[in-house]
Amino acid sequence: MLRRQASLLLWSLLLLLVNPILAQDSNPDYTCSPTKGCTLGICGMGPTFCAPGNCTSQCDAKSDCDPGWGPEWSQATNCPLNVCCSKFGFCGTTADFCDGKTVPSPQCPGGKSADQRTIGYYEGWNLGRSCGRMAPEDIPLGYYTHINYAFALVNPTTFHIEDMGPDTAALYDRVSALKSKDPDLKVWIAVGGWAMNDPGPYRTTFSDLAASTSAQDAFFESLITFMRRHNFDGVDLDWEYPVAEDRGGVQADFDNYATLVRRLRERLNQSGRDYGLTITLPASYWYLRGFNLQDIEPHLDWFNIMTYDIHGTWDSTVKAIGPYAFAHTNMTEIQQALELLWRNNINPGRVVLGLGFYGRSFTMKSPDCLHAGCEFTDGARGGECTGTPGVLSAAEINTIIAAGGTTVTLDEEAAVQIVTWDSNQWVSYDDAGTLKRKLDYANLRCLGGTMIWAIDLDDGTLINALGSDLSRPKSVLGQRPPSIPDFETHWDEL
Ligand SMILES: *[C@@H]1O[C@H](CO)[C@@H](O)[C@H](O)[C@H]1NC(C)=O
Ligand SMILES: *[C@@H]1O[C@H](CO)[C@@H](O)[C@H](O)[C@H]1NC(C)=O
Ligand SMILES: *[C@@H]1O[C@H](CO)[C@@H](O)[C@H](O)[C@H]1NC(C)=O
Repeated sequence: MLRRQASLLLWSLLLLLVNPILAQDSNPDYTCSPTKGCTLGICGMGPTFCAPGNCTSQCDAKSDCDPGWGPEWSQATNCPLNVCCSKFGFCGTTADFCDGKTVPSPQCPGGKSADQRTIGYYEGWNLGRSCGRMAPEDIPLGYYTHINYAFALVNPTTFHIEDMGPDTAALYDRVSALKSKDPDLKVWIAVGGWAMNDPGPYRTTFSDLAASTSAQDAFFESLITFMRRHNFDGVDLDWEYPVAEDRGGVQADFDNYATLVRRLRERLNQSGRDYGLTITLPASYWYLRGFNLQDIEPHLDWFNIMTYDIHGTWDSTVKAIGPYAFAHTNMTEIQQALELLWRNNINPGRVVLGLGFYGRSFTMKSPDCLHAGCEFTDGARGGECTGTPGVLSAAEINTIIAAGGTTVTLDEEAAVQIVTWDSNQWVSYDDAGTLKRKLDYANLRCLGGTMIWAIDLDDGTLINALGSDLSRPKSVLGQRPPSIPDFETHWDEL
């Protein structure tokens, strides 16, 4: 109840920012005069609003962007990521901000661009689960073109690449050895991950690395040695997230990340090997605005955009959203996320669409309100293998459905399945049908492929379903000639 009121208050405030005139008529008193400030903060900005005889009391505030008032009224001319500047000086992407302007999205009707690569992250720690494990040798081969091994870290002091732990380190070679079975497979190392930027000793490591060329050089040398030793074909940087204060970021990250990527590309070019380089991107404006997309893009093979986890239990503390259950891989919101890239002229062929082989789950407040938008109190109970409230692997969801007593509802528009059971348990996830919708969408938008978090959360059902929708055959296993010894190593290290 309290939360509901707090969120209503927030909406009135938002409305006020968008339309101060309208807000003046509402209750409580949002009005102001030359002598009386608005009780709720800033009521308006700009030369008309702050004209003499009008609302001058908060007029030292500067708007986020300039709707034509001039620099003395605004902190910046344009909005981050080229989003719209409303006539009241706020940045946003909805109709209130954009005044009828829309973003053209790339169109490839009948295209097959996204069929060219299927990337799967492999959780190197998954053998630590009590069940639902997938050893490297059990990874289903034939449809994945790339495996991104998650994760390696960066040492906060030496900036050398570092193992997450002995268990994770023990599997690098077993995963890269899969290349001898599947002639088309590439295996990359993913560096970082969400947890690396959690509070703790690694929190500022990416920022520190990006800020120093000597730290970068140390990282590059250790990375190349590491990739040679473990027979990796490329590196995917997962910095979550540059600039974001709530993730340990600083403003300088914006330019420094672009420098880091450019210098890493330069160094990989000199390695004598054809190493790949990608980074992950968030799907939200909040975090994406910390990326200098235009300067980073030319040096990457592609961006992996994490178009999952768009909603989860964390929404309850986000004032603009609140404790309401929404799907985490909602097509409407995926489209909005991609539009942020099109606003920045990103080449769609360099964008790989993220798909989740898992669901985000909730315990709902009332068994009578189970549709999207109903209130939740918590995550749903943890799965029997993954054991974390709020998330269930696709394999666990299949088991829950097979046990019976569930209601499975397809949300056509969002292209997700919503499963409810045990009166108040709720999970959104993708099945064969909704994955096909997302693959079709990736093809329609001329994207360069799809990427999956994570291989080991599936029992083989989803990759087979997704794979059979691709316009390329499953690769034939066991046809690769014996691997060629690495003669270049010694030359390069001279
Ligand atoms: C006072 O501000 C409002 C809102 O911006 C504007 O419509 C009005 O014209 C202003 N009045 C004067 C006298 O400038
Ligand atoms: C790396 O090599 C590629 C291919 O030769 C080239 O296009 C690119 O400009 C090089 N990048 C840097 C940063 O040197
Ligand atoms: C999908 O997103 C749209 C736009 O944010 C929202 O209105 C809708 O309720 C969402 N659907 C689900 C199932 O979460």
